[in-house]
Amino acid sequence: MRTLGIETSCDESAVAVLEGNGRVRFNIISSQASAHAPYLGVVPELAARHHLEALPRLLAEADRRVGLASVELVAVTRGPGLIGSLLVGTCFASAYAWGRGLPLVGVDHLEGHLVSPFLHLDGTPAREAADPALTLVVSGGHSSCFLLAGGQARPLNRTRDDAAGEVFDKVAAALGLGYPGGPVVDRLAGRGDPARFTFTEPRIKDPAGALDYSFSGLKTTVIRTAQTLATLPLPDPERPPQEIIDLLASFQRTIVEWLLAPLEELMARHNPKLIAASGGVAGNRELRMRLATWGERRGIEVLVPPVALTTDNAAMIARAGQLRATRGELDDPRTLRAFARAPWKTSGGPGGKPVFPIL
Ligand code: KG4
Ligand code: ZN
Repeated sequence: MRTLGIETSCDESAVAVLEGNGRVRFNIISSQASAHAPYLGVVPELAARHHLEALPRLLAEADRRVGLASVELVAVTRGPGLIGSLLVGTCFASAYAWGRGLPLVGVDHLEGHLVSPFLHLDGTPAREAADPALTLVVSGGHSSCFLLAGGQARPLNRTRDDAAGEVFDKVAAALGLGYPGGPVVDRLAGRGDPARFTFTEPRIKDPAGALDYSFSGLKTTVIRTAQTLATLPLPDPERPPQEIIDLLASFQRTIVEWLLAPLEELMARHNPKLIAASGGVAGNRELRMRLATWGERRGIEVLVPPVALTTDNAAMIARAGQLRATRGELDDPRTLRAFARAPWKTSGGPGGKPVFPIL
């Protein structure tokens, strides 16, 4: 079914149109980054207002470019995320679907990130999901490996504290490099020496969490080290001193190494057909390069979405919606609810780990 996707869970207003086979016909993202940059983080009330202003404009643009008259399904992110932002998206999508008599499907934001590696932006249809597949989801809210098997996604590990993207953002904010931090660090780190600083990997004592991540210690160490190297915030964020650039390169290399560290063990345990990565941090050049090399050495296929589909977008929401609709999981536009927190938990221990229907 030709699908209209709408995503407003955080600070990107996004609209996409996909053919029934998952071919991306239209994909637009209106970033609010400049509105939130002065506050070094997303201001929920501002985000909601921007979505309200952006959605009609983005839909009009979609209509002009590919025509919305033939849309057969509306898919929208219903959570988790900022509740005000989600309410704008879900109310907008519900009204649109109801007004046009179209079926509506509410999608979990994480479901979108999980299907995004299977999408292309070169006009080709979505790829069939491999079963089993291992996907690393790394964003501002997630740092977890998931096993995609038998139509379900199962979290295999998690972060015990900050998410990887959050750490990029907090380090950049403390140094005065602006928001979001990931792209800035990625750009600056390319000019630095990643071997200049080393950091000790935290040990998680709980044996059940041996493969879990922990990044808050790294964040604190990087910020403290930066304080000893320069006056913060940096007076000229475009031209930080070389020691700071080296520190950022070392920080980036470390976080990427730690993110990839559990893959060896998870691959041995689950024997996946491919390894995928998604979420904003999967746009990181060092992560993409290292993951590709890692896969080559082990003879396993590595799949990462085009950079434009790593951060929040509506193409992934439309695709997840199509897969849900195929399973008959439609929602009533009069009662679709947004939720701020995931109704399922990724934090259960072994045995208690929840599963999450997906593909
Ligand atoms: O997936 P996403 O757009 O939103 C969430 O669902 O959280 O991810 C946003 C996160 C931010 O923390 C941002 O700093 C990070 O992804 N990010 C990056 C890069 N691009 C975005 N982190 C590292 N390197 C990048 N190139
Ligand atoms: Zn996201």
